[in-house]
Amino acid sequence: MRMRNKYRKPTRLSCNAGSRCSISAVVWSLIGCLLILHLYSLVHQKDGMGGEIQFRMTHQPQFRELEEVEEENIQIPPPRGKRSPRAAKRRPKRTTTLVDEFLDENSQLRGVFFPDERTAVDPMKDLGNDTFYYYPGRIWLDTDGNPIQAHGGGILYDEKTRTYYWYGEYKDGPTYHAHKKGAARVDIIGVGCYSSKDLWKWKNEGVVLLAEEKNETHDLHKSNVLERPKVIYNQKTGKYVMWMHVDDANYTKAAVGVAISDYPTGPFDYLYSKRPHGFESRDMTIFKDDDGMAYLVYSSEDNSELHIGPLTEDYLDVTETMRRILVGQHREAPALFKHDETYYMITSGCTGWAPNEALAHAAESIMGPWETMGNPCIGGNKMFRLTTFFAQSTYVVPLPSFPGSFIFMADRWNPADLRDSRYVWLPLIIGGPVDQPLDYNFGFPLWSRVSIYWHRKWKLPQGWSGLTWM
Ligand code: GAL
Repeated sequence: MRMRNKYRKPTRLSCNAGSRCSISAVVWSLIGCLLILHLYSLVHQKDGMGGEIQFRMTHQPQFRELEEVEEENIQIPPPRGKRSPRAAKRRPKRTTTLVDEFLDENSQLRGVFFPDERTAVDPMKDLGNDTFYYYPGRIWLDTDGNPIQAHGGGILYDEKTRTYYWYGEYKDGPTYHAHKKGAARVDIIGVGCYSSKDLWKWKNEGVVLLAEEKNETHDLHKSNVLERPKVIYNQKTGKYVMWMHVDDANYTKAAVGVAISDYPTGPFDYLYSKRPHGFESRDMTIFKDDDGMAYLVYSSEDNSELHIGPLTEDYLDVTETMRRILVGQHREAPALFKHDETYYMITSGCTGWAPNEALAHAAESIMGPWETMGNPCIGGNKMFRLTTFFAQSTYVVPLPSFPGSFIFMADRWNPADLRDSRYVWLPLIIGGPVDQPLDYNFGFPLWSRVSIYWHRKWKLPQGWSGLTWM
């Protein structure tokens, strides 16, 4: 494998003992220490909410705010007499943790993870200085004033209409369990589509792929599962192609479904489902490369590994080529992106709707080998970082005017009421050395670090003005 160390070795001072050089080295070191201390005191400051803010690194001045490391200090309430019987069953002996509180729908901290409608972000209101701010975890309203329904989603930038389209699971129905041990579910309604010029104010374009109400043998019969829809545009055929995870209520079908439309706003015609390359396929994504080649990535072999393979030219099928990646690592919720000829991916662990630790991976060739670089999450607190800020990856949106900067899109699932699941959008920045040794490279940092910074509120940097950069 090509070694690609992007970091220079430290310069050495080569002086003989006792020479004047060693004295000046000491003096310069002292000056250096003082400068560092000064810099530290300048940037190390407390914010007004009890959280601590530090600056990690700033490769572009516009990103200074995005790279602030914001700490969270959430006090776990003392145990109460009456707690949710489900939460008590899950962890009978241990003291409660933030994750227990998150999973307990009766927790006093519920409002921390799922703030109520009073704090909803409504882009149609005059928000003054709050305009364009993302508030991860808050209810996010569309231009009609309804909560956005686009879970497990992804974003397409359509060059023809110079518009962003956000597609996701439209889950605005009741949550129930198909049977005692089944995962919480909502019947399929379809794929929601929202359009935007600025990635903040979203107009509901309707349900662009609908569930089947009557035919029980149909893949999209409402009693089945439709998750993680993603859409890409095929330049050669002029079609918008949607790939999604289709399954039965017990997740045993484990297949991908494909739908097609002439317009980004649909309607999409459902074509078929299949097990790609003959293998189980659950959480999945598709990725369109700069050269027009597109790829399917899916969790397979009981979610113990991911598979990746190119799509056919028309994007309607997979080809015969497939590679197994991250074998034995049990990863899902893949979100793939590219920077500087390197491919990156964020994945989650496999714990259903419950949050877990994200990992970042990198590869020089999209077909692998892929290396795991560690947890990309920065800030919040330890539990925030170990739970991907209580959310699960779904997509990473590139910001072409700011190379190396992306929006990380994740779902904060609410298994008690899935329609009320929230969106956690955060800045993702590529840069700086990775902070843990990698699998195959003898400890040398071959890749740049992927960092996802926690923010209670944030907005895209100045200079970003929707589509003017395109
Ligand atoms: C997760 C998966 C979600 C959904 C959920 C059901 O592991 O990422 O998309 O399938 O399980 O429990």
